[in-house]
Amino acid sequence: MCGIFAYLNYQVTRTRKEIYETLVKGLLRLEYRGYDSAGIAVDGPKKTSNDNTICIIKTKGKVKALDEELYKKDSLDLEEKLGTHFGIAHTRWATHGEPSPVNSHPHRSDKGNEFVVIHNGIITNYKELRAYLINKGYEFESETDTEVIPKLTKYVYDNRENDGITFSTLVERVILQLEGAFALVFKSWHFPGEAVSTRRGSPLLIGVRSEQELTTDNIPIQYNSVHYNEGVQEKNSHNRPDSSSPIDCVGDGRPVEYYFASDASAIIEHTNKVLYLEDNDIAVVKAGKLSILRVKHQVGEDPVRAIMTLQMELQQIMKGNFDAFMQKEIFEQPESVVNTMRGRICFDSNTVILGGLKDHLKEIKRCRRLIVIGCGTSFHAAVATRQVLEELTELSVMVELASDFLDRNTPVFRDDVCFFISQSGETADTLMALRYCKGQGALTVGVTNTVGSSICRETDCGVHVNAGPEIGVASTKAYTSQFVALIMFALMMSEDRLSRQQRRREIIEGLRVLPELIKKVLALDKKIKAIADELYEQKSLLVMGRGFHYATCLEGALKIKEITYMHSEGILAGELKHGPLALIDKDMPVIMIIMRDACYTKCQNALQQVTARSGRPIILCCQDDPEISQMAYHTIELPHTVDCLQGILSVIPLQLLSFHLAVLRGYDVDFPRNLAKSVTVE
Ligand code: M6R
Repeated sequence: MCGIFAYLNYQVTRTRKEIYETLVKGLLRLEYRGYDSAGIAVDGPKKTSNDNTICIIKTKGKVKALDEELYKKDSLDLEEKLGTHFGIAHTRWATHGEPSPVNSHPHRSDKGNEFVVIHNGIITNYKELRAYLINKGYEFESETDTEVIPKLTKYVYDNRENDGITFSTLVERVILQLEGAFALVFKSWHFPGEAVSTRRGSPLLIGVRSEQELTTDNIPIQYNSVHYNEGVQEKNSHNRPDSSSPIDCVGDGRPVEYYFASDASAIIEHTNKVLYLEDNDIAVVKAGKLSILRVKHQVGEDPVRAIMTLQMELQQIMKGNFDAFMQKEIFEQPESVVNTMRGRICFDSNTVILGGLKDHLKEIKRCRRLIVIGCGTSFHAAVATRQVLEELTELSVMVELASDFLDRNTPVFRDDVCFFISQSGETADTLMALRYCKGQGALTVGVTNTVGSSICRETDCGVHVNAGPEIGVASTKAYTSQFVALIMFALMMSEDRLSRQQRRREIIEGLRVLPELIKKVLALDKKIKAIADELYEQKSLLVMGRGFHYATCLEGALKIKEITYMHSEGILAGELKHGPLALIDKDMPVIMIIMRDACYTKCQNALQQVTARSGRPIILCCQDDPEISQMAYHTIELPHTVDCLQGILSVIPLQLLSFHLAVLRGYDVDFPRNLAKSVTVE
């Protein structure tokens, strides 16, 4: 939705130029979260030692535009040395008010910039607050929901009972009035060198870089090592450390730097020591010391806070030799699926252990039904694996779009097990569905790609898919890893079923060779590019299939519409005669998926119906299928694998096709218009 980044240097001298560079670099890493406008707030030039001012610079467009703007401002001395300084920065994806400098963040309390704020999320009661503050004489300049926050901060400050109010108390009083979701970072010239941040429903973490060795000896914090991409992610270990004393503070007054961000990709190049804030935490940095406070009146125990050591390579989040993150991520799939399986499947003994689920397996086996919930691509991963989940678990499996599931107030019972599939782990609809199911007493299981995300923390147990950071808005490698993770779950559930042993062995063998088969599909890239050359000026593209490939049709069509802006529809071939056949003629581009599985004959029938209407289908089929090839306008021949895994191979040509179509149509593949990577509003 939006990206938050802030940087505080305490007794570590930085020039203003260096501070700008740090802030801009942080925003660039977070640009995938929002990129229609950007802004920063830094200390203004000082004429006397008590003369604190804040300078805000905001631009419409990508972070690059902001970067250029920073160096145009000749009023600020780029070489000025700042020993202790706090700068905040934001990259926006518009929700309230169009992208424009005035609507972009930071937002301010008044023309004198007493309080400035950056925000990710949505304030649902902003209209009431705005009306109240206007009534009190406050003037608003933007159309955003966020602007009520700095105005309210000033209102509380102006109406304080005594002069001794702390910055954190001020923030606490403000957020007690807010409804909705937020991650917030506050800066004020009343509190120079101080930072206050807080969250409720939107992610926020803090990186700490210090010369002192951060150990339990000198600060009351327990380390917890989180190994990204290291195979097994024990759910309980990435939720929270087993035991440690609550964090009191970090820092002892010696030089230290703090980085606040919406996710770790913006922090990792500075430090791998991070602390994830929980809902209703208020993190305060004062005189170089970081303390975590809890908002008053919050029920429940204070959760344990710990500094984690991230093991995430910066190169993992760089584009490498590829033109776009999406392209890089498509080509990473031979490795990302291995990372999903690593440490979990033993190919010698045909066993699968998902560490984060093993303690709950008995309970899951006893459940009445599985409900698998997600949005967009994550929902498609559920559709793709539903059949094999039903087959191997012998349970009834419902797949649900989170938004629709909530709209229907779907009945959920204590003996249901609800899975929440989410790459980001922050999708608002999925998170709301999770909270709803928890409220109904169901066991909740997260399947996410983001360690420390809200879904990861709030579920009872789960699986981390370990696909590595996915930056392109269009989800690709996360889909195939979610697919593999759900298959592994089905395998784990069926380990003791004698009647399923042969089937299990076939699937496990299929998983063993999967990376090699994915490489073979990726080798078809040139052929797919040639097909894109023929198709890119078309207005519409249908994708048709059934059975195990219905999900591929939905996912392929989503990829195409999302980044090429062409109309595209995923059609269940069984529905052809019930409407979509009317669309078919010689000019309508159609992609058909016809693999050698239980639906082969039915798919051939659909093919006949298409060609009989002069349709010229592009067919994804198995290698050496002359019968199908004869009837195709073009074929894309894929290696054959076990039916329930074939969907992993059939989706990749459509990922590649959508990529090439978008490039040929001249669009920014990684940043499609109107979309953001992480949808943290309903
Ligand atoms: O982070 P999530 O997996 O929860 O996101 C859900 C959808 O917003 C996401 O899959 C979206 O559909 C993709 N950008 C499509 O490529």
